[in-house]
Amino acid sequence: MSSFSPPLIRTTLARKAVVAVSGLVLVAFLVFHLLGNGLLLSADPQAYNRLAHDLEAWGWGFRLLEGLLAAAFLVHAGLALETVWRNRTLGGRYAGRPALTLKRLAGRSMAWTGPMLLAFLGWHLASLRFGPGIAQGYSVLVDGDRVRDLSRLVAETLQRPAVVGGYGLGLVAVGLHLGHGISSGLQTLGLGHPAWTPRLGQWSLGLAGLLVGGYGLLVAALVLGA
Ligand code: HEM
Repeated sequence: MSSFSPPLIRTTLARKAVVAVSGLVLVAFLVFHLLGNGLLLSADPQAYNRLAHDLEAWGWGFRLLEGLLAAAFLVHAGLALETVWRNRTLGGRYAGRPALTLKRLAGRSMAWTGPMLLAFLGWHLASLRFGPGIAQGYSVLVDGDRVRDLSRLVAETLQRPAVVGGYGLGLVAVGLHLGHGISSGLQTLGLGHPAWTPRLGQWSLGLAGLLVGGYGLLVAALVLGA
């Protein structure tokens, strides 16, 4: 970017780059979170609790990772909401109404899938991350240590149909948001190339589909196996 660029353009580009990097950090978290949650289906009933306990045992290292994740989330949501608000105030609207494809739906729905994800996450964290623990009876012995029985908490939480419906809605929001967000973020970071750009959109939808499919299958397996 030349040093003669108007400051508004430079700050807008910097803001978009920060939204892109923080968004990709969140996508990476979703991949690891899905792999970790896969242990809920393990033949070893304590595998999931052991992983959670091992992560907690990293102490400040784990707190630092959680802090970075929270910071990425707050920065991403804050800057993205501000951009939507600016566009609305400046009157940025779609000029026409071309046929609605999955790709276009994903692009247009960013403004409401974002807040929907915010609501899902608030509820998800309140019920699981900050939900009942050892003091409330969710405790089990793993390798001689008394640890939080997270797998029982997840299993009990998913017994309520309203909760399963909430996960379904949350996953629709995740899918639509990532379907557009991943390719948009990669293009912002300079990966847009005449030969790749059309494929970036397909890969973005593909990765979003894999993640949503993975989480959806996991929830279905836990509900049906309960
Ligand atoms: C099958 C679906 C899911 C299950 C069973 C699940 C389970 C859990 C559990 C048990 C925790 C608490 C971990 C702990 O206290 O150590 C947690 C934390 C979390 N989950 Fe999920 N989750 C699911 C889907 C999602 C989705 C779709 C998102 C994002 C949109 C998400 C984002 C988070 C975040 C950000 C945390 C906090 C991580 C931390 O602070 O360590 N989860 N999840």
